[in-house]
Amino acid sequence: MIDSRRGLPAATIAAALLVAACGGGDDDGAAEQAALIEQGKQIFRHDTFGDERFWTDQLRMHEVISAAVDPTTALSVGLKVDAEALPQAVVAGITNGSISLASPATTVALLKLDAVVGLKGMVETVNGVDRLRRVGITCALCHSTVDDSFAPGIGKRLDGWANRDLNPGAIIALSPAVDATTKAVFNSWGKGKFDPRHNVDGISNPVVIPPAYGLEGIHSVTITGDGNEIAYWNRYVGVVEMGGEGSFSEPRLNLSVTNGTQDLISSKLPALQAYQLSLKAPAPPVGSFDAAAAVRGKLVFEGAGQCVTCHSGASFTDANTRLHPPSDSAAAEQSYASRSATKQFRTTPLKGAWQHAPYFHDGSAATLDAVVEAYNYKRSLGLTPEQVTDLAQYLKSL
Ligand code: HEC
Ligand code: HEC
Repeated sequence: MIDSRRGLPAATIAAALLVAACGGGDDDGAAEQAALIEQGKQIFRHDTFGDERFWTDQLRMHEVISAAVDPTTALSVGLKVDAEALPQAVVAGITNGSISLASPATTVALLKLDAVVGLKGMVETVNGVDRLRRVGITCALCHSTVDDSFAPGIGKRLDGWANRDLNPGAIIALSPAVDATTKAVFNSWGKGKFDPRHNVDGISNPVVIPPAYGLEGIHSVTITGDGNEIAYWNRYVGVVEMGGEGSFSEPRLNLSVTNGTQDLISSKLPALQAYQLSLKAPAPPVGSFDAAAAVRGKLVFEGAGQCVTCHSGASFTDANTRLHPPSDSAAAEQSYASRSATKQFRTTPLKGAWQHAPYFHDGSAATLDAVVEAYNYKRSLGLTPEQVTDLAQYLKSL
């Protein structure tokens, strides 16, 4: 062995060995990473972390669903159906009308097929009749939608896309365990919004459900930059919002919550995070913006608009270096920050912004044009109507 290398310069041998070693290592590493991401995808889509203790034992949602939530009602509160989970016979039945979308039994059948995005049902068949015994929710409920390829609300999953049709407040308000006053609060939130701090501080001031894509390389998560990695917030949501079994504590909020007796969350956080970091922001559809105006708009973004002073770098955010005082937000209201751990706002990353109107944490800007108008007014930028339009076209191109 040694003989065969004689005559080659030592550095060449060392380099060759290094390449071989790293090459092998990279392959293993890549395969491991791919497996971790796949595992995270299953968790993101299907894992409830045992939150049935909340959605079933406490809120009794399984009763309401079995009694009153037919698929048409489910679709009307923004629930989505994964067409790829439907067997051919069910697809045919829905198409020819032999499967009724007006019957709660169909919802239970869809849950049995694991076809309702973000809702996980445990269905038992007794004497040929399906009974929904337990129900829980997963991350996909709020952070996935479908492409409507089969029918409105029924199609292929789009993970990481915020479900802005979903009305979580209206869904929780269906619970027989919630009193009338509390129902009114939940019903006031509206679609595409959720208040992930309401059950902590009692305040009702919901925020828009954000996308969970385009976050690679950003070490400051949530609207207010509460954690320095996604896993921080995933633990918060899994325990404090979804009601899963595990613990979350945050001294800055004087908050410490433990649900159940086991930890069904911690071991899943690395895979869950890897999956989310793998989700890329979607590119704008061809023809969805005016390319020439976008080129001019880029100059406004970097010049007269001063946008780049905060929306900097590849992800269009300075989140890795600083957060901002609430007064830096151009949203209609800034009080959400005061309820967070940091009391500040993070500059929102802008990749894929075309996809998820309305904008700002409170959804106060209906369009990207409205975003630019808000900044033009609040920061007294003095942009001309042409500059406003061009800048909005640029934002649509990201
Ligand atoms: C009931 C709806 C709902 C569910 C279920 C939910 N989220 Fe969220 N998620 C939200 C809302 C609302 C926010 C915005 C809160 C904030 O940033 O202050 C958010 C924020 C996030 C963010 C921050 C995005 C960013 O730009 O930094 C990530 C990541 C995220 N959620 C992932 C998850 C994961 C993973 C799960 C499952 C463990 C989950 N969410 C479950 C509603 C939900
Ligand atoms: C001083 C820092 C700063 C400057 C300058 C700034 N932004 Fe922002 N931007 C932020 C912060 C912070 C947020 C989050 C505000 C919120 O949601 O309340 C934000 C949010 C946004 C959003 C909303 C994204 C979403 O997903 O909801 C858009 C779009 C945006 N900015 C575009 C711009 C444009 C265009 C300019 C230039 C005219 C600009 N920003 C200038 C800090 C800044």
